[in-house]
Amino acid sequence: MKYRVLAVAAMAVATSALVGLGRPAETGLRGATGGKVLIGTAIMSNQLDDPKLAELIAREFNCITGENEFKPESVERVKGQFTFAGADKILAFAEAHDMKMVGHCLLWHNQTPRWMFASDDGKPLPREQGLANLKEHIDAVMGHFKGRIVGWDVVNEAIDDNPANYLRDTPAKRSIGDDYIEKAFEFAASADPNAQLYYNDYSNEGKSKLERTIKLIRALKAKGLRIDAVGMQGHWLLAGPSAQEIDGAISAYAAEGVKVMITELDVDPIPRGGGAEVTAMQKSGANPYANGFPPDMQEKLAKRYGEIFAVLAKHKADISRITFWGTHDGTSWLNNWPVRGRMNHALLWDRDMKEKPAYAAVLEQLKKFGAP
Ligand code: XIL
Repeated sequence: MKYRVLAVAAMAVATSALVGLGRPAETGLRGATGGKVLIGTAIMSNQLDDPKLAELIAREFNCITGENEFKPESVERVKGQFTFAGADKILAFAEAHDMKMVGHCLLWHNQTPRWMFASDDGKPLPREQGLANLKEHIDAVMGHFKGRIVGWDVVNEAIDDNPANYLRDTPAKRSIGDDYIEKAFEFAASADPNAQLYYNDYSNEGKSKLERTIKLIRALKAKGLRIDAVGMQGHWLLAGPSAQEIDGAISAYAAEGVKVMITELDVDPIPRGGGAEVTAMQKSGANPYANGFPPDMQEKLAKRYGEIFAVLAKHKADISRITFWGTHDGTSWLNNWPVRGRMNHALLWDRDMKEKPAYAAVLEQLKKFGAP
């Protein structure tokens, strides 16, 4: 066993050595598209210590998002003290395997330390102080990775879930005011002028967030600010959203002159409400596939992935990236959200890293990206 692990590690080294001489033939999902769209995955740096998983990631994907290690609480938990070890490790792997790196994320209401926008007792900081903290964070983080990150989720999940409101009530908004999103895009554009800038959210294929996201895109542009793409997280279910809804949303965003990225794709086979608010945890819930995922469910999942990717392929001129939120089922956040400790089966590989039927369904559609 030890020797096998060593052999795989040696292979990985040999593969990275080849990169300098021109990559070997493209493989897996990344190879299916003729390079026409980035195919990404979200990972944690410790997953790279598993040689089999590291090999899968390099073979199948040409883009990585840090699942947690680029977030504000990871890189600047304490004001002015930056910790980039995990993020740097992921980025080094991406570069060694000719993969693009996406930064996730600069400003969010979750996984962000309180000090950035509030005092210890929870009171919003005065606007100037909130702005200074935001700018310092964006300058330092984008500065650290300058020229090595293809694009950043500048703002994550700022549109309110309640359609009656425009923006979500967040610590940043309470401190800085309604223009906090504009300020983040302004700071990001000057911190690394060559990085693409994204607005990322969940449920933004639905009419209500779609309309308000378009309002936001127009507001940014009216201020002369750059926004390159809208990220549709794509934490979707077997039952929805419908192919038509996804189709219509991509058309609507593209009509605003921005690219569309599917940034956090997974298809949850366990029924739940829509959305993906990280803090919306439930104490308990059914765990129907704790003993495995039966063939009829595998087929349903494959069919659903095929349907989604057929829509994406139809929009190949507007879709610049499709990123899965995890690699194999054992790495999925859905094992712990919205209910802790379940066995979920939302991705393309099972826990033994064996391709599921959904893999073939996706691969077939991805070939359309490369076709004339
Ligand atoms: C999730 C991670 O996957 C988890 O490991 C972490 O505990 C919470 O955050 N929307 C996002 C992602 O933008 O950052 C979230 O990632 C999933 C929902």
